[in-house]
Amino acid sequence: MTTNVAVGQQQAECLGGTALPPGSSSIEEVTAAAVEFLSMYYAERQLQGAAERIAGVREEVASTGTYWHTPAELAYGARVAWRHSARCIGRVRWSGLMVRDRRTVTLVADIAVELAEHLRVADNGGRVRPVITVFAPDHPTTGPRARLWNDQLIRYCGWQLGDRLLGDPAQVGMAAAALRLGWQPPSAPGPFDLLPWVIETADEDPTVVQLPVHLVREVALTHPRYGWFAELGLRWYALPVISNMRLRIGGVDYSCAPFNGHYLGDEIGSRNLSDVDRYDQLRAVAAGLELDTSSTSALWREHAALVINQAVLHSFQAAGVRISDPHTESELFMRFCAAEERAGRPVYGDWSWLNGSVGWAALHAVHHRYYDIRTPPDPNFWHPTRPSFLRPTLQDRHHPTGRREG
Ligand code: ARG
Repeated sequence: MTTNVAVGQQQAECLGGTALPPGSSSIEEVTAAAVEFLSMYYAERQLQGAAERIAGVREEVASTGTYWHTPAELAYGARVAWRHSARCIGRVRWSGLMVRDRRTVTLVADIAVELAEHLRVADNGGRVRPVITVFAPDHPTTGPRARLWNDQLIRYCGWQLGDRLLGDPAQVGMAAAALRLGWQPPSAPGPFDLLPWVIETADEDPTVVQLPVHLVREVALTHPRYGWFAELGLRWYALPVISNMRLRIGGVDYSCAPFNGHYLGDEIGSRNLSDVDRYDQLRAVAAGLELDTSSTSALWREHAALVINQAVLHSFQAAGVRISDPHTESELFMRFCAAEERAGRPVYGDWSWLNGSVGWAALHAVHHRYYDIRTPPDPNFWHPTRPSFLRPTLQDRHHPTGRREG
């Protein structure tokens, strides 16, 4: 059965991710990464006792192939992984990440309970706060102990209905996978059907778990000036919880560590709803605006995208759901850059991701500088695009040859 592999690839592609660095599970590599992380941790936090801790970890790695972070190391490591995330413009908030240490939770049913709690805590009545829930670390030889097939905890299904696509095209594979695993879909497919979770652990087969929909906050989109906008029937969820990236701290991988911040309007308005391979709504909005769409050089796409972005920001704000606009985020990101430079650290950044599409060069400081694009440092978050995404135990069960393209 190759379902698992196919879904993994599809997710990796849709996230456009960075590859994991080549497996660093040798004793030497884990030790080197651990020493580097612990040295940083003790230095940045101005703690005593680095040498003793490092000596202890060296021994632990030598005899077990890995080591167990203290809760404080885990929390700090997760926060620094955010600080190092080159594509994120919201990093000024890195030290405020709430870290839920759930490393002893390993069964599907218990993981599901914790995921629900993550949604509740992070949603925070609409005042979305940044949260990560860290489940068991990967085993040094057998790989992930738990993994989510979903790329986010909240996502809308994609339905291929003959030659027509309904919903989120990026999630067609995931919806099909859930169906194959026995999920009961809504009686009639709609454009915004919530996907269930698919959770897999080292000891249990991939299992479909119903999403606790009462914990999912959604915002129906309206525009402050155009009454017709509401009739497009567009909506989006409040909480983007990335659930398939691997957190790596000091050489230890956490394949199941869902995390969230709050949305930047652009993500929804310019990408999710406007991209032609996503909800592709620019033409519908242009029709509402009665724009001439016969020539792209009339900039009707830009005009429509701006109106969708206004609708997203307006609707979220009116609903009391935390969301950022590009002006605010650009300014905050400059503060982050300044703080990093004051601390003597490089500002890792991926220019093309940091700069959104509404708000142009003239408006936002974030455009007017370069960022450090050397190999992303550890701690960090990684996309599951390497074969190590499916380490032996999980891989064998679904793909007997262990082979995987891409
Ligand atoms: N771009 C993704 C989406 O539109 C979410 C990525 C994380 N975004 C965030 N603001 N934390 O769903």
